Amino acid sequence: MLDKPPLEGTRVALRALGPDDAEAMFDSIQDPEGRRLTGSHAGFTLEVIRSHCARVAVAEDRLDYVIALRGDPTYRGEVVLRHIDPENRTASFRINLAAWAPRGGGLGSEATVLLLRYGFNVWPSLHRVELEVFDFNPRAIRSYEKVGFVREGLRRDALWWDGAAHGAMMMSMLRPEFEARYGLA
Ligand SMILES: CC(C)(COP(=O)(O)OP(=O)(O)OC[C@H]1O[C@@H](n2cnc3c(N)ncnc32)[C@H](O)[C@@H]1OP(=O)(O)O)[C@@H](O)C(=O)NCCC(=O)NCCS
Repeated sequence: MLDKPPLEGTRVALRALGPDDAEAMFDSIQDPEGRRLTGSHAGFTLEVIRSHCARVAVAEDRLDYVIALRGDPTYRGEVVLRHIDPENRTASFRINLAAWAPRGGGLGSEATVLLLRYGFNVWPSLHRVELEVFDFNPRAIRSYEKVGFVREGLRRDALWWDGAAHGAMMMSMLRPEFEARYGLA
């Protein structure tokens, strides 16, 4: 069974997402700004979120973690490594800090490094982690670049939101790039 231990940084504490987090996750996805920033058209019922949390808690092919603070277990968002492709040694990354996290205070960048380090360690063949970010989200782009993700290109007009088309930037980080910056021990 895939081990999903707590992961602690300087300020951030990550814990495996589970059924007990469903209500907080449900509350967090009601935030219109968060939905815009993540391009989430679909709404989800609490029941759907409950079954999602129960399913991913035991999934062997993905890491879903709650972002909290050391000493304060309040749900402040989620960070996920998924879409593992063993043949190509790739995975995709997503993160969403709740509106009450706070955003812009460094939590997201620290959570990103913590989860990537664990992912590269627990999957020794994982070589590339990729993500997509919309061109109207400079805070996320800055956070990803600060952490070490590299811009690859723009999927033109990939998102239709509020009557207009927006580009989606592809970014990635490779294992040697992560290891050179942070080490993997
Ligand atoms: C994206 C996200 C994970 C980043 O985490 P965070 O804790 O807010 O990020 P940080 O505070 O570590 O870094 C943000 C950086 O962007 C900068 N920034 C903030 N607003 C900015 C703007 N409008 N333009 C450019 N840079 C901006 C900050 O100054 C900071 O850079 P610095 O450390 O060099 O000063 C988080 O904001 C979040 O989840 N937002 C809501 C959902 C979302 O956007 N998810 C990502 C979808 S791809």
